Amino acid sequence: TNVTRTIPVVFHVVYANATQNISQAQIMSQLDVLNEDFRKMNSDTTSIPGPFKQLAADTEIEFCLASVDPSGQPTTGITRTATTVSVFDYYTSPNQIKTGSQGGKDAWPNTQYLNIWIGNIGGGPAGSQILGYATSPGASAAADGVVLLYTTVGKPPHNTFPAPINRGRTATHEVGHWLDLKHIWGDEPGCTADDLVTDTPQQKAENQGCPTFPLLTGPGASCATTGPGAMYMNYMDYTDDNCMNMFTHGQKARMIAALTTSRASLLT
Ligand code: ARG
Ligand code: ZN
Ligand code: CA
Repeated sequence: TNVTRTIPVVFHVVYANATQNISQAQIMSQLDVLNEDFRKMNSDTTSIPGPFKQLAADTEIEFCLASVDPSGQPTTGITRTATTVSVFDYYTSPNQIKTGSQGGKDAWPNTQYLNIWIGNIGGGPAGSQILGYATSPGASAAADGVVLLYTTVGKPPHNTFPAPINRGRTATHEVGHWLDLKHIWGDEPGCTADDLVTDTPQQKAENQGCPTFPLLTGPGASCATTGPGAMYMNYMDYTDDNCMNMFTHGQKARMIAALTTSRASLLT
């Protein structure tokens, strides 16, 4: 039976120069990545370690560009807003890009659209670069949605973020948060905090780069010291784009729970 749930998306491109005013092709490439990853159509499912293969889920959630705008007029599902803001500082003003009066772009109603803002986000310590961020269900309507650094959008050649973080999976990770997923390690170091999903192994902390399977030792290891180890290839860890390749059935259930309760109006 076909239980596919399709979420209408509006991409708000907020640009200070021509490079930041990314192409429709780049946005379509990002939409492809979201649909591949959420439908388990990504080419790298072959890299899922054997013990985790049966845990990998087709979430049956899909994404389409919005075709009708909030006033009932046809739309491409992409808005474009010129700005004089050179950097939208995530650390001091995360909602500035979502605010028209501050050089950003106001949200479309979050009851009808997943809002994805794309811009030059930054701030924070030197040498760090925020790739994206998201709200979880329950955020204010004006702030609800996902924000992406413009270089991280889509696949190469559109995506210009340095490899191996250049496959458009920042959006996959952030949309996971928007559908109520927590980080796989539970956001606190140690083995008490949990992601509230039973089929993701309890894990001590985040992983970066790309560990070697099975990950049973080290800071990002599983709490179990035997077995398949940490599921560092889950989209909700912090590993490289070319290292992450799966959501689990438990994560699917949590996302569908959000889509059938707090976010149910998106599907009507
Ligand atoms: N919020 C996270 C950050 O900015 C997103 C990490 C996404 N990970 C990735 N491999 N694309 O660091
Ligand atoms: Zn995250
Ligand atoms: Ca878990």
